[in-house]
Order: sequence, then C-alpha cells, then structure tokens
Amino acid sequence: MGATGTPRIIPSVTLVLETRALRKGYASARGRVEVLRGVDLAVAPGEIVAVLGPSGSGKSTLLHMLAGLDTVDGGSVHWDGEPVDPGARGLAGRRARHVGLVFQHHYLLAELNVLENVTLPGRILGREVRDQARELLQAMGLGERERATLHSLSGGERQRVAVARALVLGPKVVLADEPTGSLDRASARSVYAVLRDTVRARGAALLIVTHDEALVADADRHVRLESGVLVESEPELSP
Ligand SMILES: Nc1ncnc2c1ncn2[C@@H]1O[C@H](COP(=O)(O)OP(=O)(O)OP(=O)(O)O)[C@@H](O)[C@H]1O
Ligand SMILES: [Mg+2]
Repeated sequence: MGATGTPRIIPSVTLVLETRALRKGYASARGRVEVLRGVDLAVAPGEIVAVLGPSGSGKSTLLHMLAGLDTVDGGSVHWDGEPVDPGARGLAGRRARHVGLVFQHHYLLAELNVLENVTLPGRILGREVRDQARELLQAMGLGERERATLHSLSGGERQRVAVARALVLGPKVVLADEPTGSLDRASARSVYAVLRDTVRARGAALLIVTHDEALVADADRHVRLESGVLVESEPELSP
C-alpha cells in the first residue's frame, strides 16, 4: 500500500510511560534466563495500573527498566514519548523530574528527620521543595510529624514518608514495587489509599506492582506478567 493509503495514527495523548518489545534476560548457573520476552506497555497520564504476576515473573526487572536503572537487551523504554537510555548523561536529572520511585523497603535515611528525608531529592537537584514537602506530609496525615526521627515512626508511616519523597519533585509517574509488601493488612490498605489519592490529586500516573490483587481492585487497569509478556487482566472483585 502506498503512503497515501497508509492510515496515520496520531496519538491524542503523549504516554507518560511506554515500552516497545522490551526484552531482558540474565545469565544464571543453569544458562541464560529470558525474563522479559517482548513487553509492550503504555501508561497514559493520570492512569493507575496494577502489575500482577507470580514471584520471579519479572515484575521488579520490568520496573528497573521502566525507571531507566538498568540496560535493556532489546526493545525500548520511553518517557513522554522520548527514548530512555540508562547510559546517557543527564539521565539521573531527567529521571528525578519524571519518575518517583517507591520500594518495599523505604530506603529513607535514619540520620535525617521526616521533613529532611522528603526534601532530599530537591536538595540533590538544587531545588527548594520545602513547601511541597510540607503539603504532602499534611495530605498524608503526617503534618505533625515533620521533625520526628524515623525510628519513632511505624512501618506504615515510614512508607508514607517514602511516598511523599517520591512525589516531592512533581513526577508525572510513580513506580511502586510492592510498596505495602512489608505491612500488615490494615497499614497496607491505608498506605495504598494515601498513595492512590495523592497521586490522583497531583494528576500523576501510578504503576504499582503487588501480589495483593484485592488491594488494588480500584486501579484503572490490571496487567499480568506471564511467561515474559504482559497481558491485560480482568480485575478480580474485592472480597
Ligand atoms: N540481577 C539479576 N541477576 C540475575 N538474575 C536476576 C537478576 N534480577 C532478577 N533476576 C532473575 O530474574 C527473574 C525475575 O526476577 P524479578 O525480581 O524481576 O521477579 P519478580 O516478579 O519481581 O518476583 P517477586 O514477586 O518475588 O518480587 C528471577 O528468576 C530472578 O532470579
Ligand atoms: Mg519483585
């Protein structure tokens, strides 16, 4: 078909996050393991996407690629339609502006208080983010705790601080890898609710990896990593 007969697909929105035919494998004692075998993912602005899949299916591997923290074997990752090259100069600054990261372990600094932990990304980039940090802590019910030391906080409170830190630079997308994985059921629910509501209030997108499908029943979309590819999955009704 000639150029005139080719339909032109003009995307109406720029995807905040996208992978095209993403491949990643590792060498192991038993030979090479192909973990991601052609993952296609598209996340629109403001969308909440839950990533499910059994242990070892490659969810954390995918998140690392999406964050530009590791090289890909094939295919590509895009932020706002622009390719991401983990080896490129300036990627750390670009990542800090575009992506907020939350992990199962909070990775906060014990020698800093709550507010100092939340403003740290700003200090690294030379930006004053104290007002944003205070506003986030307030929204998360930690307004009174900004001078608190980390060891005085519960596990759930620490994860809220980690969420505030992930959002303080106003990223377009938050990537969360089992953010409630170390919490009891009640704390997990409240941390997820705070994460979801704060992300929504700021118009950011959220990609959350979890084993707990019921927790994320209200996500816009559920996708599942199976045999190295992502498949859309019907959300399970919460019990
Ligand atoms: N740096 C690495 N070197 C070698 N193998 C790795 C590395 N990272 C991950 N793998 C392997 O890749 C596969 C996927 O691991 P990954 O951590 O992405 O799974 P996951 O879905 O996040 O699992 P879980 O639900 O247990 O967190 C596993 O077989 C793992 O052993
Ligand atoms: Mg994992």
